[in-house]
This record gives sequence, C-alpha cells and structure tokens, in this order.
Amino acid sequence: PYDVYADLRVNDPVSFFEPTGQWLVARHADVNALLRDRRLGRSYLHTATHEAFGREPEPEFQEPFWRVIRAGMLDVEPPVHTRLRRLVSKAFTPRMVESLRPRIRKIAAELAEGLVERGGGDLISEVAEPLPVTVIAEMLGVPERDRHLLRPWSADICGMYELNPSLEVQHTAVRAAQEFGDYLRDLARTRRDEPGDDLISALAQVVDGGDRLSEDELVGTCVLLLNAGHEATVNVTGNGWWSLFRNPDELERLRADRSLLPTAVEELLRWDTPLQMFERWVLEDIEVGGVRIPRGVEVALLFGSANRDPEAFADPDRLDVGRADNPHISFGAGIHFCLGAPLARVELIESFGALLDANLTLAEEPAWKPGFVIRGLESLRVTV
Ligand code: HEM
Repeated sequence: PYDVYADLRVNDPVSFFEPTGQWLVARHADVNALLRDRRLGRSYLHTATHEAFGREPEPEFQEPFWRVIRAGMLDVEPPVHTRLRRLVSKAFTPRMVESLRPRIRKIAAELAEGLVERGGGDLISEVAEPLPVTVIAEMLGVPERDRHLLRPWSADICGMYELNPSLEVQHTAVRAAQEFGDYLRDLARTRRDEPGDDLISALAQVVDGGDRLSEDELVGTCVLLLNAGHEATVNVTGNGWWSLFRNPDELERLRADRSLLPTAVEELLRWDTPLQMFERWVLEDIEVGGVRIPRGVEVALLFGSANRDPEAFADPDRLDVGRADNPHISFGAGIHFCLGAPLARVELIESFGALLDANLTLAEEPAWKPGFVIRGLESLRVTV
C-alpha cells in the first residue's frame, strides 16, 4: 500500500473514499491530531447512536458481537473509558511488565531453541504466535488446555474490522465473539468463587454494582485484553523478520550490535505497521487540512501512511534499525493509546533477541493474510 499512501499524502491528504463512505486521512500531523481530538469518538461506531446520526443501524444478527466488543474500553468514551482503563492499567505499567521479563525471556528462548533444533520451520506458528499468546494467557489465567482456542477466536473477530467484510466473515465474527464471551463468562464465575493469582480473578472480584465492573464489562475487558494482547504482536514479529530479510545490511547491523534492539523494534513497528488503519466517528463538524468533515461520518486514519510521512521522518522509506527520532503512530495516541505498549515492547525485544544469532534465512516467499486493516503474514518459513 505504501506507493498509494505516498500519492495520497501529496495529492489528496484528506479524501473521500467512495467504497466505504469514509474520509481517509493520510498525513502524520493530521492522524496524530485527530487521535487526540475529543470531537471524534469510537463508541459512536455502534448501534445505539446510529439513529442520532441518521445512519442505518448495525444488522440485528451482529448484536451479540457488539455486546461483547462495545463493553471493552477501546469502544467507550470517558468517563466509562477512564474507569475501565484504570481498573486494569496497574497490571501493564512498565514496572509490572519489567517484572515479567525473565519469564518472557524464558518462553522466547524455549521457542527459539525448538525452531533451531528442527533446523527451521514456520516462524509465525512456531514463535510469533505462541509467545504473546502464552504471556497474555498466563497473565489473565486462561488454563493451558484452552489456549489453542484464543488464536482462532481472535482472528475470526478481527474479520469484522476489515473493509466491507463478506456476510460469511461477519457471521463467523459474531459466532466467535459469542463463544469467546460465553467461555470467559464461565471462567470468570469460577474464579469469582475460587480466585487464583491472575487478572481474571482480580477483575472478577470487582463485578456488580455501582462504579464497579458489570458482567458484560468484565467479559468485554477480558476479550479485549486477550485479543489486543497478542494479535498485533504476532504480526509485528512476522512483518519485522520479513522486513529484516529484505534489508540484510540492517539485519547484520543488528546482529553486530544487540544494544540496537530497542530502536530496531520501534523501527519495525513503524516500517510495516500491523494495524494499517483505525476508525473514528466525527461527533462535531471538524476541519482537517482545509477540508470540512461534517458530524456523523467516519474517518479512517491511515497509520501505515502516517508512519512513512517525510514531514515526520527523515528518509521514511529506509529501514534504519538505529533510528533515533521515531515518533511512529503504531500504538495510537490520545486516551486510547495502547495500554499494552510496554508489554509488547518487552515481548518483541526478547523475541527478536532470542533468534538474532540463529542465522535464520528465508526458505520461501511468505504468504500474506487477506485483508488490509490488519497487515500480517499467514506463514514465514525459515531455515536455520
Ligand atoms: C489499544 C496497537 C499490543 C492492549 C491500541 C491501539 C493501537 C494498538 C493502535 C489504539 C487503537 C485506537 O486508538 O483506536 C498495538 C500494537 C501492539 C499492541 C501495534 C503490538 C505490537 C498490545 C498488547 C496489549 C494491548 C500486548 C495487552 C494488553 C491494548 C488495549 C487497548 C489497545 C487494552 C485499548 C486502550 C484504550 O482504549 O484505552 N493498541 N497494541 N495491545 N491495546 Fe494495543
């Protein structure tokens, strides 16, 4: 998509996109400003407020999906957002995450060893997926026997966020959200009676009444943490290795100087961002880059384009693992800034670090997942 973005940034930085009826925003400064602008929101993506904007409501069959999704912090506005975010934010502070580093390093080392012993394999299914899935499942307390369910549920739910998903994809997403929600509702009830040392148990203690979590909020929060807690990390690992294979000098530079790992991870997040686009609803008329956008329409913020904007990055199309000034937008900005950014950073540093000296080479051209919003590889076969 990067050539198209370059053209948009110069010729049409704020443009109407007929097929989805959205306004596309391509420049870094505009994307950054709109993410922080409270005249735009996310909750308004959903049924209850469609009528007020004169829009068709979501189809009835999608209701079980939105019931789960709109109860999570990402899809609500303050003060509900503030309350929900505060309840879980303690578990994701840089300090808390730092205390998890030894465990994350051990998981990364075991996965890397396995891949090396087998002489290679699929980096996505053998390293990129199991690392963040194991970490977030352990944090929340999802039993090991059930963890295989998390990837498919998450992938099916994400189908709904693609541009114009087919009816089949929508039904699959609804089914997945419903099953996932039911599973977590049962698990949370068990933990409320018999708490363990995990986040679901902690959250289950604050269910019901007053300013505490309702059961829907508890389920919505856990679904969000489990999904957001691995989906993008998987794709940064895959996209990141693919980026390094295509820039062998940068890979060698990183191998020669591991102290570059933190800046390298930021650069890989920027260069081929796993979330190409996020949407907002315009709650009051706004003006962006001289274009007036009326209340009630959707804007699509093109993160992938913002991250390659020459106004924000020197030589933006060049992968530079030592890039010092890197204000990428891959974790968003404003009140919904990624809660898991510190965790994702540690996971990525440990994951790339564990495989850096393994002398990986590409075994075949990788296959991309279909879709545009979520950019990631289906598989990435490597040889050691
Ligand atoms: C929100 C990206 C990993 C949890 C976000 C947003 C972005 C993002 C762009 C904001 C969306 C918006 O404003 O509409 C990423 C990327 C990741 C990653 C690129 C990996 C490299 C994680 C992890 C967690 C997590 C590991 C674990 C808990 C969340 C949550 C929110 C969020 C809970 C919602 C925050 C809120 O609404 O206040 N993420 N994320 N993310 N992310 Fe992440």
